[in-house]
Formats: sequence, structure tokens, C-alpha cells
Amino acid sequence: MEFVFDIHKIFLEPITKLDGNLLPIRRPLISSSEAQKQIMTVIDEIGKASAKAQRLPAPITSASRMQTNPHHLYILKDCTPKTAGRGVVIGFLKVGYKKLFVLDHTGSHIEAEPLCILDFYIHESLQRNGFGKELFTLMLRTEQVEPQHLAIDRPSEKFLSFLRKHYNLRSTIPQVNNFVVFDGFFRDRKAPGRKLQPKRAEGEIKPYSLSERDFLKQEEGLPWPFSQAQSSLNRAGSLGSSPTRAGPRFIPGEDDFVKSLRSCRPHSLHRAANGEQEDPTQRRRTSGR
Ligand code: COA
Repeated sequence: MEFVFDIHKIFLEPITKLDGNLLPIRRPLISSSEAQKQIMTVIDEIGKASAKAQRLPAPITSASRMQTNPHHLYILKDCTPKTAGRGVVIGFLKVGYKKLFVLDHTGSHIEAEPLCILDFYIHESLQRNGFGKELFTLMLRTEQVEPQHLAIDRPSEKFLSFLRKHYNLRSTIPQVNNFVVFDGFFRDRKAPGRKLQPKRAEGEIKPYSLSERDFLKQEEGLPWPFSQAQSSLNRAGSLGSSPTRAGPRFIPGEDDFVKSLRSCRPHSLHRAANGEQEDPTQRRRTSGR
């Protein structure tokens, strides 16, 4: 994704971590207010591209949603800054903590606050080149979380395949909300969940924990569960249009820059990436939404 401004002046690292203040730890090379304006444009555009890729009726990632939710956004830019002119954004990953009621293997409700994958997108022309794995790996290190301890907000088929391939996450523990958790979710957690007492009335439990995407249901104009069925249909459709893998592909007529990105295997993870320097105790947590 290209922009009319220079990506390298706002994002100094291959992967930039942002929170609600929308300014990277490594300060941009332009004024903070100008950088923030440009970063807002980037977030809105990549959010739209992700929604389009997932056939969602509206973006679930936007600058304004970032400013009002304690989420972390990891943005991956191209790895060839010297030849790339203004640079391009390759994709992003959005995560955040959410209070959820998660069912364990016995069907008991466990109150937990896992890190959730809320949105994930790599530009269509660059998928299956390892960029998603690169983003995900940096996020895991920065957030200090194991992949099996994550909860995933309605993963697409592509994402499920990604998790199977890279992290061997296969078996899920059935849930009644829209989040997917995998076997191992309850093992060796840093903050073990709290089992809800049986005396607690079922009515007090809110099993349909709010998903990042729930606000879309109103926009879809369909009440739950019809919106669910609609979204599954859409998902099935999007899977059908997935490109097939044939190694790095070169498309005739494609400009040199995109070619160079394709042939560029994931850049080595920058240990100095801004997120990794952050004190993990500074992590912000949500209180539900
Ligand atoms: N069809 C099926 N599986 C796919 C796929 C596709 N079009 N693209 C990626 N994958 C999965 C496969 O397991 C693939 O391994 P394979 O090529 O050996 O089959 C693996 O991801 C490749 O890993 P990587 O190159 O690191 O992933 P990526 O850079 O393509 O990023 C996604 C993965 C899911 C972020 C990316 O495919 C994407 O943006 N998809 C569209 C948006 C989306 O579905 N986001 C998830 C929201 S819940």
C-alpha cells in the first residue's frame, strides 16, 4: 500500500508498534502533529483494505478506534528503504486484552483476560511470502505471550491455516462466543483464569463476549445469528479466491518495487524494534471492549 507521503519518515523500524496515542516510540522525522495525521491516514487505509479482504461491511481497524481502545497495532513496512522511494506498508496485526468467559474442556466457564488477535492483514500481492509470520513472531516476543494462549476473534480460513502451519495450532476448544481458543489455552498460563462458581446463576454469565466485530452486526442490518450465517458465507467465498502458492511470483508489468518486495524474504527481526524496548509492565489492558 503506497501513500502520497514518505512512510520511512513516520515509521523508522521495519515493524512499528503503535498504541492509542498513535506515535511510535522512535519519533518520526517530521513534526509530531504531521506524523500523527499521516499515521491516521495509514491506519484508516490499511483498516479498509483488511475489511475488504475479509468481506466485512466496515473496517474494524481505524485511527479513531485505535484512539478509543487500548489496542496495540503492529505495522510492517517494506524492507528495502533505499530503493523504495516513499516506501509501502505491507500489512498489520492488531491485538488487545479482553475479558472473556472461555469454556474449558469440561464445559466450565472460566473468566480470563487473554491477549486477543483482533485484526490481521497482509497485502494481497505479498501474501504467502512469510510477512505474516514475521509480524506475528515480533508481536509474540513483544507481548511475551505463547501462541496457544491467544484468543482469536473470528479467524478466517487463511488465518486458521496460518496458525496450523506455523504454530501447529489445530484442535480448538469449542466456545459459545465468537473467539477461537486452541488446546493448550489453559496450560501454563501466566495469569490463570478464574473458574466461575456453580452457584453463580447462568444468567449472570455473559457467554457471548463482545467481539471486536460485534458493532458490524448493526451495520449488516441482520440480527444475530443471521449475521453469523451471512459472515460464514462471506468467509467461504473469500477462501475460494485465495491465490495459490508457487513461490515468489513475478507478475508481468509489475513495477520493480513490488518485485523487490516479493523477492525480499522476511527481513531479520529487528531486535531494536520499538515495541521490544517497551517495559511489558506498561501494557494496557481492556476492561471488556
Ligand atoms: N489461502 C490459504 N492459506 C493461506 C493463504 C491463502 N491465500 N495465505 C496465507 N495462508 C496461510 C497458509 O497456511 C500459508 O502457508 P502455505 O503457503 O504453505 O499454504 C501461510 O499462511 C503463509 O504464511 P505467511 O506467508 O507468513 O502468511 P501471510 O503473509 O500470507 O499472512 C494472513 C497471513 C492470514 C495475514 C494473510 O493471508 C491475509 O492477510 N489474509 C487476508 C485477511 C485475513 O484473512 N486476515 C485474518 C483475519 S481473522
